[in-house]
Amino acid sequence: MVVVVAGNNYVEEAKQLCKYLDARLVNVKYRVFPDGERYLRLMEPNTVSGETVIVVNTLYPNQVDSLFETTMLINAARRAGASKIIAYIPYIAYSRQDKVFLPGEPVTAEVVMKLLRHSGADCLVTVDIHSIHVLEFFGECCKNLLVFDRIVESIIDELYNPIAIAPDVGALHRARYIHEKLGLEYDHLTKKRDRETGEVSLEPKELDVRDRDIVLVDDIISTGGTIAKASETLLKQGARRVVVVASHGLLIGNAVEKMKKAGVYRVLLANTLGIRFSDPLIEYVDITPIIGRELRDMVIE
Ligand code: R5P
Repeated sequence: MVVVVAGNNYVEEAKQLCKYLDARLVNVKYRVFPDGERYLRLMEPNTVSGETVIVVNTLYPNQVDSLFETTMLINAARRAGASKIIAYIPYIAYSRQDKVFLPGEPVTAEVVMKLLRHSGADCLVTVDIHSIHVLEFFGECCKNLLVFDRIVESIIDELYNPIAIAPDVGALHRARYIHEKLGLEYDHLTKKRDRETGEVSLEPKELDVRDRDIVLVDDIISTGGTIAKASETLLKQGARRVVVVASHGLLIGNAVEKMKKAGVYRVLLANTLGIRFSDPLIEYVDITPIIGRELRDMVIE
């Protein structure tokens, strides 16, 4: 039998996954010591022994605590005798620090991957990781699942002559993926980010977006700056409406207001995080059924 162990950020989704996998959810006892250190215990360790265990958690919010909790869960499952451990972590925090941009920086994404691997995970499944090469730090048995094409598919009939646009060249492969899956034309804008201040400036490409609906696709919306600038640029160029599709909506501070001000029409997000915003602009698409099918195939393999 497949066994699921859930971290605090993603309990409801883990319960849903259990239904798809016909799996059993292990009861975990959590505690925080007076000094702030954490404790956890799998309450039925005998049910884990000899089984495939899927550790389900997501690393936002409370990135560091959630990461540490996930490694503790993996270690606990390993010590309880799991035969195989699959970590399903839809959002991997720190994945944007994927190389040394300025001398003296760490590759924090490497640290995260190695922590997960060395705590005992055999396989890692994630959703739309910022850059795919980061998975090499984990080693063999990784899957990066893309779901934004399904999100676009669910609204495609409502769009007028749509074109998929990436807000920068780094996200171009996402727009191309939509082209491959759904046949939409695609292109990208050119983004420059000041590495010291984090400020983003946008250089529009020569795109004929006049009177067309835009599917603006990105992996992460953090402060909303990238999307807001892209939307303003595209609307100035004559685009009809800007529909944003992103995998991970962190939506820090006034991100939602910023996007509204920039004329964004709709924002569709996958439910990859342990937070949910309630605002008419924001719509969530439940990706649990897609992930459930993928995990089931992996377990059967
Ligand atoms: C960066 O390259 C990512 O793909 C996103 O474009 C970025 O994280 C978005 O950040 P923000 O919403 O703060 O502009």
